[in-house]
Amino acid sequence: ASTLGAAAAEKGRYFGTAVAANHLGESQYVSTLNTEFNSVTPENEMKWDALEPTRNSFNYTSADRIVSHAQSRGMKVRGHTLVWHSQLPSWVSGLSATDLRSAMNNHITQVMTHYKGKIHSWDVVNEAFQDGSSGARRSSPFQDKLGNGFIEEAFRTARAADPNAKLCYNDYNTDGVNAKSNAVYSMVKDFKARGVPIDCVGFQSHFNSASPVPSDFQANLQRFADLGVDVQITELDIEGSGTSQANSYSNVVKACLAVSRCTGITVWGITDKYSWRSSGTPLLFDGNYNKKPAYTAVLTALGGS
Ligand code: G3I
Repeated sequence: ASTLGAAAAEKGRYFGTAVAANHLGESQYVSTLNTEFNSVTPENEMKWDALEPTRNSFNYTSADRIVSHAQSRGMKVRGHTLVWHSQLPSWVSGLSATDLRSAMNNHITQVMTHYKGKIHSWDVVNEAFQDGSSGARRSSPFQDKLGNGFIEEAFRTARAADPNAKLCYNDYNTDGVNAKSNAVYSMVKDFKARGVPIDCVGFQSHFNSASPVPSDFQANLQRFADLGVDVQITELDIEGSGTSQANSYSNVVKACLAVSRCTGITVWGITDKYSWRSSGTPLLFDGNYNKKPAYTAVLTALGGS
């Protein structure tokens, strides 16, 4: 196979990218997307502030553009994200606990119903744990007002809304074995033991020189898979350039392929010029859509050429 998506498909995986609706009018952006990728994640368009800027008033216009583009070309869609402390409209943080609970469940139910049957995996809860050694939950309106049970409640509501979507917990700095990933691991283990519906764990995998690809990345993916969930690499980007960047990308792809329940990889953007990192070159295509050494390394690691 000669494209990322086709090579991944031969290994039984998808290869996706984050997509921004406002670039879908740019011909090189769209042709690269259509040629190389077979899954998309809306980069911002399915976040709470985009979909429900005022209470119970939903705006699906931008997210629908991405979903219909993907569907018309047979690409999968990852839903990102239902419950997150960031990009949360201000009305949410002002609610009482009772109101917040009903607003959270209403948001999940409305959005998942709108996209029912069109989303292969949903990031139901994103980034609920703190960085550092505590393994504690992050402060957020949900955590502070609803307590630890908000995550479980969100997953139960999500299962009821779209029983066929895979339900994921997604986070960053959980790519290797550390206090934060241990805390997520304990939560997933507890959910599986008690029958709380969870199907997958997303590892964002935003890497740079301060936070390189961990040597125990594969082992960490495997220990989660061994709990009985799929694992996905959901927001991959790696700062750097040339051979060292290419080698890091190759190692990530090989780690996923070595774990049978690692079902797909998503890079967090197509071209360096639109990366969320304001400076830097973390993606597979440069600002002119030329394939970088990292692209070739990924294609080779996937078994393509
Ligand atoms: O939509 C407004 C626009 O109206 C306004 O004119 C403009 C001016 O700054 O801002 C626009 O919003 C920006 C938005 O992206 C859409 O472009 C926000 O300022 C900007 O903060 C936001 O950044 C996004 C970031 O999440 C916010 O947390 C990045 O694009 C997006 O790549 C990034 O993605 C996150 C994942 O969702 C979760 N994991 C980490 C990852 C990287 O930070």
